[in-house]
Amino acid sequence: MQSWMSNPKQGVMDAKAALLARMPDGAARMVRLNEWLADEVAAVKSEGAEAIPQIAFRDVLLDAISDAQRDRIRRRGCVVIRGVFDRPQVNDWNAEIERYIDENHYYEKAKGKAGLDQYFSTLASGRPQIFGLYWSRPQMQARQHENMNAVRGWLNRLWAFTRPDGSQEFDPNRQCNYADRVRRREPGDKSLGLSAHCDGGSIERWCDPSFHRVYHEVFFGDVDAYDPFNAAGRTQTEEIPSPAVCSVFRTFQGWTALTNQGPGDGTLKIIPIARAMAWMLIRALQPDIAPDDLCGAVAGRALAANSQWHQSLLEAEVSIPVVEPGDTVWWHPDVIHAVEDEHRGNHYSNVIYIGAAPWCEKNARFLPRQAERFLAGKSSPDFAAEDYEVDFKDRARLDDLSELGKKQIGLLPW
Ligand SMILES: [Fe+2]
Repeated sequence: MQSWMSNPKQGVMDAKAALLARMPDGAARMVRLNEWLADEVAAVKSEGAEAIPQIAFRDVLLDAISDAQRDRIRRRGCVVIRGVFDRPQVNDWNAEIERYIDENHYYEKAKGKAGLDQYFSTLASGRPQIFGLYWSRPQMQARQHENMNAVRGWLNRLWAFTRPDGSQEFDPNRQCNYADRVRRREPGDKSLGLSAHCDGGSIERWCDPSFHRVYHEVFFGDVDAYDPFNAAGRTQTEEIPSPAVCSVFRTFQGWTALTNQGPGDGTLKIIPIARAMAWMLIRALQPDIAPDDLCGAVAGRALAANSQWHQSLLEAEVSIPVVEPGDTVWWHPDVIHAVEDEHRGNHYSNVIYIGAAPWCEKNARFLPRQAERFLAGKSSPDFAAEDYEVDFKDRARLDDLSELGKKQIGLLPW
């Protein structure tokens, strides 16, 4: 842990002063990024729902995605990949997760444990209907599935991961299975949702030297040259330890739809602008923001995009298109996203969170800690230690893992 993390307020003041001292042209950077953002937001608005790229899994398998499509996904920082899993398979998974919850009395066990996870507590809308379940058989089967492997390898290769010396920031062809949770959102739910945020670090993006490498062009170089798909430094960032802050490197966050869901069904909204973080970083360094403030960023919480400081960006928020069971949705770790406040549809909107975490030193270090939790049925190490599944019937066991699945969780060498 870096020394500034023990006193985040002082850390912010020191980091802002140091950044501004190294960046005499902060105002000019803001002018340039404001111009760029206005163009980008206008482009998204003119595209509407089409702003989120959509491709078919079979075209990924056939290597039939054009360079123009890839560039568009890189610009938008997100993509819907359709038909990754067969619908009957996904319907079975959805039903099995429901049984897993009911037969193991999840709701009763969850009473009294709610509130362990404070990660989203600064977001106005509170927490959605997300279950602290990591090891159901459907989750493990989806994670280790060959189709998921193919999709994640393809997504990883959208990044530039080869260093100048020929070594790799990560290996796109080997996946690490990062155990995340399940969302089952009931129709009519109004109280829950997540306002616009991004994961994977808040004030550390400004305060920690490891992030200065990632955002070197934004702070110190040519802002127009900043490429969010350049992996240099990305696997070496150091985040403030906190429940539900992801401690692995992901090329994309993502989820797999278990039910059909679209705008109005309490599902995902995305600001499909991959480089938006550049604008947020420079915005927080402008003279109208107090020396101890970074546009409201709070240590150890999701980094919020708020209406007070980020309205011009929030205007580009787009709901994901209707997705069907077996479709997958992916977004770059810096992309701002939200979950709709209200579920106005008439059936459950359910997903399994499965991101893309390619093999790298950082992720390899995480795997043994996670494997220990898997074998004991405890909560994934990045999340609140609710440990619901320790005595759950029908939990995935080592025997349920394929050879690939064992490698992906670090219980077999590659
Ligand atoms: Fe998120």
